Amino acid sequence: MSWNPEQYHKFKQERLAPFNDLFALINVRSGLSVLDIGCGTGELALALADKLPKSRVTGVDSSPEMLQKAAERCADRVSFELGSVETVSGTWDLLFSHAVLHWVEDHHALIPRLWTLLNPGGQLAVQIPANHRHPSHTCIIAAASEEPFRAALGGWVRHSPVLEIDQYAQLLHGCGTTEFTVLEKVYPTYLPNAAAIAEWTKGTTLVPYLERLPHELHEPFMQRYRELLINALPEGEIMFTFRRILFTAIKPAQG
Ligand SMILES: C[S@@+](CC[C@H](N)C(=O)[O-])C[C@H]1O[C@@H](n2cnc3c(N)ncnc32)[C@H](O)[C@@H]1O
Repeated sequence: MSWNPEQYHKFKQERLAPFNDLFALINVRSGLSVLDIGCGTGELALALADKLPKSRVTGVDSSPEMLQKAAERCADRVSFELGSVETVSGTWDLLFSHAVLHWVEDHHALIPRLWTLLNPGGQLAVQIPANHRHPSHTCIIAAASEEPFRAALGGWVRHSPVLEIDQYAQLLHGCGTTEFTVLEKVYPTYLPNAAAIAEWTKGTTLVPYLERLPHELHEPFMQRYRELLINALPEGEIMFTFRRILFTAIKPAQG
C-alpha cells in the first residue's frame, strides 16, 4: 500500500494526544529494547527514545515512502528498518504500536503472536483507531458499493478487523497476564464541515481504495464520498468523534 507522508502529516497535531495518553500507560524504565511497529515517518520512535532513558528504539514499517522520511530522523539510539507487522521478530522489552494494527487482519492471532516477542517483564503498548462505525468509514464502503466504483474495485471493500475492548482484554488475559489496561476514548477533532473529513481519511482509510481505482475515477469517487458524508452528518462545523482503543499489558517476569 502506498502511503503519502505529506497527506498523513496534515493532522499531525491531532495525533499527538493519543500518543501522550498511551505513553502515560508505559512503565518508564531505563535501558529498554523498544520496537515501534508501523513507525511511519518516525516522529514517535524519536519521542520514545527521548522519553525512555538509555533505551534503543527500532522502528519498523512496510512503506518505503514513510521510511524514507523516517531515515532523515535517524538519531542516536534510533534506527529504522523495512519490515511488516506480520513478520517482525526478535524479543523486546517494549513493543509499541500506534495507529497501525487496524491495517492488520485477525487480531485473535496477532495479539498472541506479538506477545511471544516480549521479554519476561516486557510491555505491549498499543493504540488502534476504531472509527469503523462512523460515517467517515461507512460512507467509504457505501460509495465503493455503488457503480461505477463497485465494478472498478471488483466488489472489493475493506471491513475493519478491530475488535471490541472486552475482546482485547480477553486476548491479553489469555496470553497469561492480569496486569493490563484496555480503554477506549473519543478524541474530538473540529473540522469546518463534513466534507473536510475526506481530507483526513485521504491520508489513511482511503489509501487502499484510491490505489485500486483507476486514476480517472479518483475525483468522482471522492465527490460521491463527500456527498454521502454531507448527507450523513450535520451541516456546518463538525466535531469528528475520533474513537481510539488503547491497551497495554505486562508479561509476567517468569515468562
Ligand atoms: C497511520 S500510520 C501511523 C504511523 C505512526 N505509528 C504514527 O502514529 O504516526 C500507519 C503506518 O502503518 C504502516 N503499516 C500498515 N500496515 C503495516 C504492516 N502490515 N506492517 C508494517 N507497517 C504497516 C504504514 O506503512 C504506515 O506508516
